Amino acid sequence: MARYKVLVTRRIPQVGLDMLGEECDLDISPHDRPFSREELLSMVRGKDGAVTLLTDKVDGELLDAAAGARGFANFAVGFDNMDIAEATRRGIPLSNTPDVLTEATAEMAWALLFSVARRVVESDGVMRSGKWNGWAPLQFIGGDITGATLGIVGAGRIGAAMARKSTGFRMKVLYADARPNSALEAEIGARHVPLETLVRESDFVSVHVPLLPETRHLFSYDTFTQMKRTAYLVNTSRGPVLKEDDLVRALKEGLIAGAGLDVYEKEPLMADGLAALSNVVICPHTASATTTSRNGMAAKAAMNLLAMLRGERAPDCLNPEIYG
Ligand code: GLV
Repeated sequence: MARYKVLVTRRIPQVGLDMLGEECDLDISPHDRPFSREELLSMVRGKDGAVTLLTDKVDGELLDAAAGARGFANFAVGFDNMDIAEATRRGIPLSNTPDVLTEATAEMAWALLFSVARRVVESDGVMRSGKWNGWAPLQFIGGDITGATLGIVGAGRIGAAMARKSTGFRMKVLYADARPNSALEAEIGARHVPLETLVRESDFVSVHVPLLPETRHLFSYDTFTQMKRTAYLVNTSRGPVLKEDDLVRALKEGLIAGAGLDVYEKEPLMADGLAALSNVVICPHTASATTTSRNGMAAKAAMNLLAMLRGERAPDCLNPEIYG
């Protein structure tokens, strides 16, 4: 049986490569960086399919370059890098990796929340600098978490997981979402509210919406003016959901107390001035970076791509309408 020719645009955990290797000849990027656009367009030529990253634009131009390909499996749950309408028009399946990174991503949102509210990174810096001169009543005072109000923006899989983890801290949970999540309401008493209410009333706002035209710049300067000056913002979704320059301005002006960020508007760059602020904790888009989660993503991407190559229905297909 002829083996499929597959491009893997950056090395993924071995479990996925082993699964693909059973039926495919793999062309794995040798670089420890994303492919340039030119490299991607050239490497995808003649392939039957590819495992792509959130940094690879899967659009009409790429589908032209990969003419004849049977599908593309994103190694990510987010899929704003993929032009689903265009792929659907051409009958080409696309997939993502839901579920396997839900808990890891929610854990990272909590890690950011704790770190920024309790000033963990700032404190760590002082200890390492050798400048700490002993316990002091007014040193590194942060925000309270137990009993505070947590606002979840987007109560899908990850937002709901974040919300569920709040119960040990006896938090009041508000959520804003176009779709009510009645399971979450029943389980932890979360209250469905308009975004404006959530923004006004929350002590912690954690963002979990996908990047869509309607969520791009959902948070701008005006939004920050409505938040409590003592509130913290956490973003583990996609950078462009926040206007990052506006966030920097809001943090400088003290409109909010701080922010914990894992994602940025123009990755790998950050807005001017962001990294100089002491009231932000900034991580390099690593929310899903646990062994279990990344192995799960690799296995899912492989499973989806193998199904597409065999002409079977991919389990996490993003455009199932192509199957009729
Ligand atoms: C990471 O950001 C992902 O979408 O999986």
